[in-house]
Amino acid sequence: MQIPAIAPNPLRFGMRTARNVQPCIMVIFGATGDLTHRKLIPALYNLALEQPLPPQFTVVGVARRAFSDEQFRQQALESVNNFSRRSPASPAVWETFSKGFFYHQLQFDNPDDYQSLAERLKQLDAERGTQSNYIYYLATPPSFYPTIANNLSAGGLGGHNNSGEQGWSRIIVEKPFGHNLESALALNHELNKAFSEQQIYRIDHYLGKETVQNIMVLRFANGIFEPIWNRRYIDNVQITVAETLGVGGRVDYYEEAGALRDMVQNHMMQLLTLVAMEPPVNFDADAVRDEKVKVLRAITPYAEGEVASDTLRGQYGPGMIGGEKVLGYREEPGVKANSPTETYTALKLFIENWRWAGVPFYLRHGKRLTKRITEIAIQFNRPPYLLFQGTGADQMQPNVLSLRIQPNEGISLLFDAKVPGQEMQLRSVNMDFLYGSSFGVEPPEAYERLLLECMLGDSTLFTRIDETEYSWRLIDAIERGWAKMPASALHQYEPGTWGPKEAATLIERDGRTWRHL
Ligand code: BG6
Repeated sequence: MQIPAIAPNPLRFGMRTARNVQPCIMVIFGATGDLTHRKLIPALYNLALEQPLPPQFTVVGVARRAFSDEQFRQQALESVNNFSRRSPASPAVWETFSKGFFYHQLQFDNPDDYQSLAERLKQLDAERGTQSNYIYYLATPPSFYPTIANNLSAGGLGGHNNSGEQGWSRIIVEKPFGHNLESALALNHELNKAFSEQQIYRIDHYLGKETVQNIMVLRFANGIFEPIWNRRYIDNVQITVAETLGVGGRVDYYEEAGALRDMVQNHMMQLLTLVAMEPPVNFDADAVRDEKVKVLRAITPYAEGEVASDTLRGQYGPGMIGGEKVLGYREEPGVKANSPTETYTALKLFIENWRWAGVPFYLRHGKRLTKRITEIAIQFNRPPYLLFQGTGADQMQPNVLSLRIQPNEGISLLFDAKVPGQEMQLRSVNMDFLYGSSFGVEPPEAYERLLLECMLGDSTLFTRIDETEYSWRLIDAIERGWAKMPASALHQYEPGTWGPKEAATLIERDGRTWRHL
């Protein structure tokens, strides 16, 4: 009997050929704030320039202060000119695009204002043909999320209708999504009163980065990596997110968050899951996220004693970075003089499943480090027997496949080669793929990709609630352990270095070293 071939699912995850955005209105709450100014408006403009947006596409900026449509358009133009990768704005494109920009004054906690917003949206639907399709972007402090979601719902703007029959509504929320597991669940409970899980798009801008999306392509579109992508061939995985910047003007938020909640709970966990997940059955949003959740479930949260041995926290003191004098964290305006907030963290964890049992994953992240670099390094086992004795081979580094997320985006494979000449001398060399030179095009910004995906109704690149939950479970265990540790467990480090020297111990006691980047 001949078994009929199964038609492959249409390629998803941005690889489908034609994808059309339906006419819609994006309602931005917090329209006069920094996120809107620096990221959202420039991203929307770049999308308009590259034309995936339908001509009916409309933006309604919502905020507390009084602004006219014209003022909002003017402010939006400044955003594009200052922050778009395609600045200055093209007069012809801006002329048409900005006609779809409107402003609506609203107090987040005043239900009546949502009635008038609903009327305004109806009127715009009639004028611009946006078919009652709405995306609400909450670019506000998270404390407003429940109030806004509830008021939208009460004003007839939320609803659980995602069928597309009478228009659809979606809501995008920024991080932080909660402060721990309990608050994340409570926040989700509030949002669910007004929106179903399918309507909630939790943004993690790392998922919008080209290089992050390429992790899946590297793993699942090539035949050579998957057979060796497991405990039999891989010795360890290191994920580094190093930044030179300090906390800037975000002290209030950062004092509450710290490095672990700010970067590890979300961005670094996303990198980890993409590297460690099993192949999904297809690239549907749920198929991909099911596999990511399985990875998170396989990480056993630390027992109390393990927090002290397998995690580490640090805080930068005053010093120099790039030839400039910088303040220590505790001297930054607004930071408490004895602040216990960490600006550096390193940890070791295990994914307890068939693929990864026994392979340590080392993660490190810090602010005010020596350089800005995000890298995932897959370090392979050494050869079982060293044939090339006395050739330098015993000093050689093991093979490493490094995925450079930013900057100098690319992938390198480190391997040993013979130094040309009569002697048998070996040296490690790199085989490099660089996005810039291979494709010669500038990748879109993360927000461009993510806004577009939401307009298309594809939530593959957004965090599902159970991903958030399992990730918080791990972070909470660390935070609980840290809370019991003495103040001396917060290690000071000098700006412009690779963080506290104690971080070396965390990996060196396993007979390994951090990558020299
Ligand atoms: C944000 C964090 O989510 O990501 C910041 O809140 C951090 O503290 C930033 O600096 C890093 O993003 P990127 O894209 O510059 O790596």
